[in-house]
Amino acid sequence: MNGPIVLGIETSCDETGVAVLEGMEVRSSVLASQVDIHARYGGVVPEVAARAHVEAIRPLVHQALTQAGVHPDELDAVSVTQGPGLVGALMVGYSFAKSFAYALGKPLYGIDHMEGHLFAPRLAFSGYEPPAVVVLASGGHSQIVHVKAWGEYDVLGGTIDDAAGEAFDKLARFMGLGYPGGPAIDSDSEGGDPTAVQFPRALRDRPFDFSFSGLKTSVVTYLEKAGAAGELPPRADVSASIQEAIVDVIVDKTFNAVKATGVDVVGGGGGVLANRRLRERLAQEAEWRGVGLFIPEPALCTDNGAMIASVAVDKMDQGMPSDPLTGDVMPGLSLG
Ligand code: KG4
Ligand code: ZN
Repeated sequence: MNGPIVLGIETSCDETGVAVLEGMEVRSSVLASQVDIHARYGGVVPEVAARAHVEAIRPLVHQALTQAGVHPDELDAVSVTQGPGLVGALMVGYSFAKSFAYALGKPLYGIDHMEGHLFAPRLAFSGYEPPAVVVLASGGHSQIVHVKAWGEYDVLGGTIDDAAGEAFDKLARFMGLGYPGGPAIDSDSEGGDPTAVQFPRALRDRPFDFSFSGLKTSVVTYLEKAGAAGELPPRADVSASIQEAIVDVIVDKTFNAVKATGVDVVGGGGGVLANRRLRERLAQEAEWRGVGLFIPEPALCTDNGAMIASVAVDKMDQGMPSDPLTGDVMPGLSLG
């Protein structure tokens, strides 16, 4: 046996994710995406998300256990995202996990969603070990984290306004590219010239912090002016230029942190790390500087149940106590 058998449940936003881990080995990982439902509204509608989690969670837990060939009695623990996230969405997963743990007489671990993203590369790479600099970029967060040891985090910087994923989503909506915006801009920029339009790179003077609201204003102003003058470049060029502006600052801040901390391990997590140009640029920079880069496959970068269970496995390995069944969700939870 490789370690404890743990069920992981993730419902913080618009994906219901359930997985079964045996140690750090993923026995099953299933997902019910709500992307099509929210696409109609151009963004995540919290009440609609909670409802969709209610419908998906029971069949998905059943599917994850069946695929893993694990009977509920064989589980060593149940883990679930406790925060941060949308309160109604979190409550669906957390209430289900509490009842499931209670009914089975198993320990419950409430997990920080962002710690899940920090851990995700462990499921793909055995050599991913702290000390490390990890860049977390999703729809709700953009952070540069110095992972000193598992469970010991120094958040070096974050966004002072929009998260990177939020910037992609808002700009894609403005350009009529649909939701979610990150994947839309990623594929729209294929073949585009990333140097076509020079959009601003903000907060050059703050080595680990992000700001994306100026970029948004600049893109909107540029498109309105160029449109009125009849000088709009091909849309792929605009998408590639927007993407390059966001990618540039993420790469910059990440390697500022590498320089400042002296670590030689870089990890990444969160939906934005699925971006092809970002992955390519991080890989180039890591190779050039001779540091190890640990960015898992896109499905492990976006929200999933396996990353949640992996944090619980680590807590169990470290002998940390489980949570009381009287706990509640923590929508405002933050790392460190
Ligand atoms: O981590 P995640 O799945 O959910 C949150 O915790 O927010 O991240 C979702 C975010 C969305 O803003 C989405 O547009 C962005 O990640 N995203 C991407 C890509 N795939 C997802 N951004 C850029 N390029 C992508 N390929
Ligand atoms: Zn996430």
